[in-house]
Parts: sequence; structure tokens; C-alpha cells
Amino acid sequence: MSTEAAVAGHYGRGRLEESILAAVAREGKDPEKLTAGDLASVDEFHVGGIEATQELAKHMELRAGLRVLDVGSGIGGPARYFAAEHGCRVTGIDLTEEFVRVARSLTMRTKLDGLVEFRQGSALEMPFEGESFDRAYMIHVGMNIADKAGIFREVRRVLKAGGLFTVFDIMRAKDGEIQYPVPWALSEETSFVGTARDYRDALQKAGFQIAQERGRAPFGIAFTERVIARMTQGGPPALGLHLLMGEKTPMMIRNILAMMKEGVLEPVEIYARAV
Ligand SMILES: C[S@@+](CC[C@H](N)C(=O)[O-])C[C@H]1O[C@@H](n2cnc3c(N)ncnc32)[C@H](O)[C@@H]1O
Repeated sequence: MSTEAAVAGHYGRGRLEESILAAVAREGKDPEKLTAGDLASVDEFHVGGIEATQELAKHMELRAGLRVLDVGSGIGGPARYFAAEHGCRVTGIDLTEEFVRVARSLTMRTKLDGLVEFRQGSALEMPFEGESFDRAYMIHVGMNIADKAGIFREVRRVLKAGGLFTVFDIMRAKDGEIQYPVPWALSEETSFVGTARDYRDALQKAGFQIAQERGRAPFGIAFTERVIARMTQGGPPALGLHLLMGEKTPMMIRNILAMMKEGVLEPVEIYARAV
């Protein structure tokens, strides 16, 4: 099996849309009258949730009408956020067919389909013309991609000169074993965690200039501790990331928290400009 098939196999759950809509109803919300914000606890599949996405937006020089690319768009929470809150026209691409299907359905349900669209495919070979986008971002995706240089070359190709590319990934901060499972992989077979330096080097080689880099360990640890506290007190909320991560969710979250606390892993933001 190719690495990409294994990655898509890791994320695809089956019946994801049904379980999200059932959880929406259990939370007392009407699945026929959803807003983008109603879904934030399930559709922001990364450390820091919607707060992390809001933080990225502050540094992305956004305005209404900009064409924005979401690399590895998952079920589409960040894409809908950038459309609903900033008026951007967002295109997401993702490897996992089920995620793309659910992303499209939730986007119709939140009436954002005039601004947001999704394509199924690999970020290493995107079906877009050169210089199609004003901005691009990639949130918690690079951990599944060994070829960082390849992906950044592809993003550079489709981004206009002067456009900003934002990365928010889990990176290696020091030596130490990675304990599996983690949210992006059950084993090292599909896990390719890089250092911030790997990212910077690959970005620069691909034609980006690094504008800013920021480690987010304290924020990531505090967020993850709150998630664990909520799970311990009352079990997971009806609508939560466990719907995406499955039965291994508690172990995945505990592992990533422990590795952030040990200083082995760190969520890092990188803002780069296409030159
Ligand atoms: C942890 S999820 C993050 C989803 C989304 N960015 C978010 O923050 O909600 C990682 C996503 O990356 C996608 N992905 C991994 N490798 C990919 C690749 N080579 N091309 C496109 N998508 C990929 C997976 O299918 C999955 O949806």
C-alpha cells in the first residue's frame, strides 16, 4: 500500500457524517440550521482548535475576496472559518475521500458553498493552475508527508508572488521517541515529524522567505490539558474530535500531551512569503 493510501486509511472512519449530525442533534442544535461556529468542537482537527485558527488569521493579512488554499483541509472547519469570518474564497484539498464528502456536506449545511469548495487529491500534485491563490495555509498536515520540499514546491507553484503561506504543524523540538498512537498516525509508518529547521530549509529552497516563526508549546499544553480534564470529568462531549479519531482518542491525546510536556514535540507556526 502506498503511504498516501495508508494515510487516507488512517483518517477514513465510515459513517462520519451520520455520527456528526447525530451528535449535533444530541447537543440540542438543529442539523438543518447550522452555522460554521456550531461545528468548531469537531471540525478544527488540530491542537488549539478554533482558537489556534483565529490566531493564524491575525497574521495572514486577510480581506474579503482573497483566494485562499487550504492544504489538507480535513472536514473543512478552518476553510469555513476563513470564509464566514473574513469573506475569503477558500479551496480545500484533502487526500481522504470521506473527509472531502463530509466537508462538502457541512459547507452546504452552513450555507457557505458559495465561498468554499473542496477537491479530493494529494497536496503533492494539486489540480490547480500556477499562481491561482493569494494565500495558502496548512494546519497539522506535514506530519503525514515525508517530502516537505515537494509539498512546499507545489504550494509555491500555485501561490502568487508576494502571497503568504502559513504552516501550523506539530514539529520535533528535541530528540526522543515518539509514542504512538498520535492523532495523525498509529505507527511510524505514516508519521514524518520534522524539525522547524527542516521546514524552514524546505520552504526557502521552494522559493519562500520566512517572515515569522512561533513555537506554541504552552498554548498547546494548556489546550490539551483542558480537553483531558473535560473528558475525565464528564466523558467526551457529544460533538468532539473523538468522532474523527475513534476509540483510541484518549491514548492519542495523552501521548501528544506527554510529548509536548517532555519538549519532544511542539506545535509551531511558520509564516512565509512567496518570493
Ligand atoms: C490532522 S488532519 C487536519 C485537518 C485540517 N487541516 C484541520 O486542521 O482541521 C490532517 C489532514 O491532512 C490530510 N492529508 C495528509 N496527507 C495529505 C496529502 N499528501 N495531501 C492532501 N491531504 C493530506 C489528511 O487526509 C487529513 O485530513
